[in-house]
Order: sequence, then C-alpha cells, then structure tokens
Amino acid sequence: MTEQIISTSSDGIQQIQMNRPEKKNALTSAMYAAMADALEAAEKDAAIRVITITGSGDSFSSGNDVADFLQTFAGEDPPVSRFLRAISSAAKPLIAGVNGMSIGIGVTMLLHCDLVYASESATFQMPFTNLGLVPEASSSMLLPNMIGYHRAAELMLFGERFDAPKALEFGIVNAVVPANELATVLHQRAVALSVKPLSAIQTTKALLKRAPESVPARMAVESAEFKRLLQSPEAKAIMEAFLARRKTA
Ligand code: COA
Repeated sequence: MTEQIISTSSDGIQQIQMNRPEKKNALTSAMYAAMADALEAAEKDAAIRVITITGSGDSFSSGNDVADFLQTFAGEDPPVSRFLRAISSAAKPLIAGVNGMSIGIGVTMLLHCDLVYASESATFQMPFTNLGLVPEASSSMLLPNMIGYHRAAELMLFGERFDAPKALEFGIVNAVVPANELATVLHQRAVALSVKPLSAIQTTKALLKRAPESVPARMAVESAEFKRLLQSPEAKAIMEAFLARRKTA
C-alpha cells in the first residue's frame, strides 16, 4: 500500500488518511487503489465499526491528480472506480473530517460519507465545468437530492470555491469547528457511533441510503427490520438491562 494513504485502526475505528500534503493530497491511481483496499478491508473486519477519512497538511484533497487524469480513467476497472464502488457501498458508517481545501472528488466523495465535519478554514470547489468536464461519483444526482436543485446548480455550473459556512448552510457538512478541534470532534463522533449496536447502525444506514419508494413500501421494509432487530441479542440485552434498572430503582 502506498505511503500516501495511511490506514490505521484502534478501538473499532478505521482511520484512512490521505497523506500527500506537498501536492495538496491530489489523488493518483495508486492512492485510489490504496483507499479502495483500506475500505474493503475495513468492511470485512468484524472488529471495525466506524471508518474515518481525513486529509493532511493544509488540505483535505485537491482532487484527482491533474497529471494522472488520463491514466486514472484508463482501463476497464480503474482504481478510481474500485474506490467509488467501495465508498458508495460501505455498510459501515463513514465520517469525513475536512481540514482544508477540498476540490473535485475531494468534495464528491463527501456525498458518500454519512457525516462530514469541517474546520472553519475548509474550502470546497467542484471545478468540473471550468476544466471542460462533468461531475462524477454520482454527484450530479446525489448533490441536488441532498441540497436542492438550485443550490447544486450554483455549485456545479459555476464551479466556484465556497467556504465552510456556506457548506454548512447548504447542508454539505454537519458542523464547522475550529481547526484545532477538528481531530477531537471527529474522534468523539466516531467513538459515539462505535459503541452503539452495530446491526442497528448498519441497518439504519442502509434504510437511509435506500432508493425512494412509496410510504407503505418503506414502512413494510422498516417493520421487517424492526422485528428482526427486536429479536437480536443486542437489543434484548439493552432492553433487559433497562427493565432490570427500573425494578431495582
Ligand atoms: N494534481 C496534481 N498536482 C496538484 C494538484 C492536483 N489536483 N493540486 C495541487 N497540486 C500540486 C501543485 O502542482 C504544486 O506542485 P509543485 O509544488 O510541484 O509545483 C503543489 O501541489 C502545491 O500546489 P500549489 O498550486 O502550489 O498550491 P496553491 O495553494 O497555490 O493552490 C490548488 C492549490 C489546489 C488551488 C491548485 O494547485 C489547483 O488548482 N490545483 C488543481 C485542482 C484541480 O483542478 N483538481 C482537479 C479537480 S476535478
């Protein structure tokens, strides 16, 4: 695995860090491959409950390596496609911490994360049209669904840089925090998720990500999952502990 992606785990949290600060964490094919490997391994590892994605230096990611662009998209199943498959299909929760500049796929990968925290100095830009290109990573569908058509059109047609308060106002990030608190906030949020019942977290994520359907159809799916989890040892133990506490109180 390239040293430009650092993947470490502790206490059920897999931390994936883009580590090419001298190039603003521009992503090469080797880096996409390493991130895909890390995400796939975390999905398979029963000990991992949450995955975090962070940048390094003063950037989250300046997007695809411009010099590597043609190579990035060459071949039948290039590493960027493996990475996008892995990040878009992850069953485990993904939390991103955006420390600085975030461009192109540096932004569109955030749309696949479940939670995004940004530092006050973070900036965002999807400059695809400026480069004569189009948005990728399903972002032309995910972004308008997430923030509304007019906002998505503003960000994607103009391709201008925007700041963290605007990302917060538009709903692309969950919270904006002082730069020196970002790592702590990210860790605290990851820990808070990691101690919750895993199947409840994963099933809730799957429901949130499910394609739109009719209200009765969705209620039926939820009801089946609710009944299944009600029988699970985790839920039973939690409810028995609650009832036992009430008896002794
Ligand atoms: N691909 C390849 N190299 C990149 C890069 C990218 N996406 N982003 C930054 N770099 C490199 C720069 O070429 C420079 O390399 P050098 O030191 O060998 O000259 C180094 O990273 C530092 O970048 P620099 O441009 O000096 O920093 P800056 O703060 O002035 O500007 C950016 C940073 C990101 C705004 C600017 O580099 C940029 O516009 N990069 C291209 C972003 C882009 O179009 N990405 C594709 C999106 S689809």
